[in-house]
Amino acid sequence: MKDQIVSIESEALMRIAGVSDMRELEDARVGILGKKGALTSAQAGLKDVPKEEKPLIGQLFNDARKNITEALEVRQAEMQKAVDAAAVANVDVTLPGRSLPPGGMHPLSMIRDEAIRILRRMGFALSEGPEIEDEFHCFNALNTPEDHPARNEKDTFYFDSGKLLRSHTSTVQVRTMERQRPPVRIIAPGSAYRRDEIDATHLSVFNQLEGLYVDKDVTVGDLKGTLEYLLKALFGQGTDVRFRPHFFPFTEPSFEIDVKLCIAGQAPRWIEIAGCGMVDPAVFAAVDKSRSSSDYKGMTGFAFGMGLDRLAMIRWGIKDIRSLIENDVRFIAQFQ
Ligand code: PHE
Repeated sequence: MKDQIVSIESEALMRIAGVSDMRELEDARVGILGKKGALTSAQAGLKDVPKEEKPLIGQLFNDARKNITEALEVRQAEMQKAVDAAAVANVDVTLPGRSLPPGGMHPLSMIRDEAIRILRRMGFALSEGPEIEDEFHCFNALNTPEDHPARNEKDTFYFDSGKLLRSHTSTVQVRTMERQRPPVRIIAPGSAYRRDEIDATHLSVFNQLEGLYVDKDVTVGDLKGTLEYLLKALFGQGTDVRFRPHFFPFTEPSFEIDVKLCIAGQAPRWIEIAGCGMVDPAVFAAVDKSRSSSDYKGMTGFAFGMGLDRLAMIRWGIKDIRSLIENDVRFIAQFQ
């Protein structure tokens, strides 16, 4: 048996030394060490070896396996080196490099970051929540009645599980208040989803910037002052801003905010860019119930939700919202 092991080993080492590509090397490995390989088959005979010789023969098998494995590894490394060298053999490293045009920020990212910067200066911290939501955070806690149209399957994307794609970022109001005690002063930029017909001003996914300020004695004056400051900082001091009474289930009173869009050669027109209002006490009650507290009882606050895509469209006079998601570099390059 000793002789057999010695001859298997020497044959194996010769075979390995002679292979000329990775495939042959793999065939050699399987043919020697594989389940039906020469060494493995021979090793099956170990059971017939007299007991007192077993340790010695066993040791010889182990040594042979080790030597062969090492030889395989060495040969593989050698061949890999040759393959790598061949791959770059004809590369002329003295040729000048090809330059890539510098990338830049997407207009949506630019307007979002600018709005965040302005609001942070006013003490708002960033917050966030999931895009896949439940009805509690999207509707119930926001005082939205069972028969409200936004809950409709025609308007909101539902999963079979009953979860949904958030139809607005107001969910983050609830999630933040569940997590922390008042006062709260947060903003939450993020995507929202609605089953809108897609056209020049609507997409089924759009971007909002939510804001929430909760403390004692917050007034409509604070709301107006904050948002006018933000919009003038974004669009220029001369910007006209107007608040129109509106209805949202989670704020009372509620407003829609319009910005007057003046483009040279066009009649000025009002564009709706946000919803806002004073947080409805029913929202505080729902949050308190959810966190088993009375921390929000008697609190006051304002909230707003702004369409970031709209802000970008106004800021740069973008006519079709679809350009924002087409990733056409000729479009995006204009904003650098
Ligand atoms: N969530 C509302 C919307 O998407 C906007 C809004 C936010 C209104 C906060 C009031 C307060 O239309």
